[in-house]
Amino acid sequence: MVELKDKKVIIVGASSGIGKALAKRFIQEEAIVYLVSRTASKLRRVQEELGGRTHVFPMDMLDEASVNATFKEIGAFDFMSFSAVSDETKLMSPIKEMKTEIAQRGMEKFWGTFNCCRAAANFINKNGSIVVTSSMAINRPSKNGASIMNAASAAVNVFAKSFAREIAPARVNIIAPGVVKTGVWTKEEQNNFSKWAEDTLPVEHLGTPEELAYTYFNVLTNPYMTGATITVDGGLTLI
Ligand SMILES: NC(=O)c1ccc[n+]([C@@H]2O[C@H](COP(=O)([O-])OP(=O)(O)OC[C@H]3O[C@@H](n4cnc5c(N)ncnc54)[C@H](OP(=O)(O)O)[C@@H]3O)[C@@H](O)[C@H]2O)c1
Repeated sequence: MVELKDKKVIIVGASSGIGKALAKRFIQEEAIVYLVSRTASKLRRVQEELGGRTHVFPMDMLDEASVNATFKEIGAFDFMSFSAVSDETKLMSPIKEMKTEIAQRGMEKFWGTFNCCRAAANFINKNGSIVVTSSMAINRPSKNGASIMNAASAAVNVFAKSFAREIAPARVNIIAPGVVKTGVWTKEEQNNFSKWAEDTLPVEHLGTPEELAYTYFNVLTNPYMTGATITVDGGLTLI
């Protein structure tokens, strides 16, 4: 639908999981891809593995100066995907035992989203678009200590809809993943979830980064979508 050759694509969270799979997809379209996360060595490994026209930008989403400098250096761009998060699943705790420090860390995903969207607003092209990452849990919260994690995703969701109105005609959408086989889980957790998904989910398998990236790609490049939240969860919300 949209010619993507030479388009500039910023992927925050590109060293792993959904971000890495999405980078591969845009490289196939001959886009210019800016690989962003904290760790330069991980990004360079992705760069070597994927080939294509990529640039590595180490940046901490929580460091306002680092975020602003990164976006300034990249300059005008067409698409941004944001799927960065750290230690999210390690910060889970029942509310009555939750330390304030842990609760505050749980909101980092929101602040990272905010910092990057604020910086991006100054450089996105008129017909550009942004996708940020929420979670299916905003509609089906679990009782496993994920309250703050879910609250951060809900904050991202509402923030992104306001942002979509403010930066129109550029577009902003939200993807709400279910359980996906990525770096947020240990290998052991991934194996346990694979078994759980086969037994429990309507689609009978655990989500893959590629299945998520497929939707990120389509939503980013669809000129008639803005302000939408798309759930990609293998049917978890249904059950
Ligand atoms: N996977 C799931 O089951 C699942 C379920 C629901 C929602 N989600 C959502 O999906 C997103 C995570 O995507 P994923 O599953 O693909 O995770 P992932 O594989 O763990 O990737 C996270 C990325 O974030 C980067 N990152 C971490 N902290 C950062 C920081 N301070 N600044 C910049 N980059 C940072 C990491 O790279 P560095 O280490 O190099 O910084 C990495 O590239 C989150 O929004 C999460 O809530 C995931």
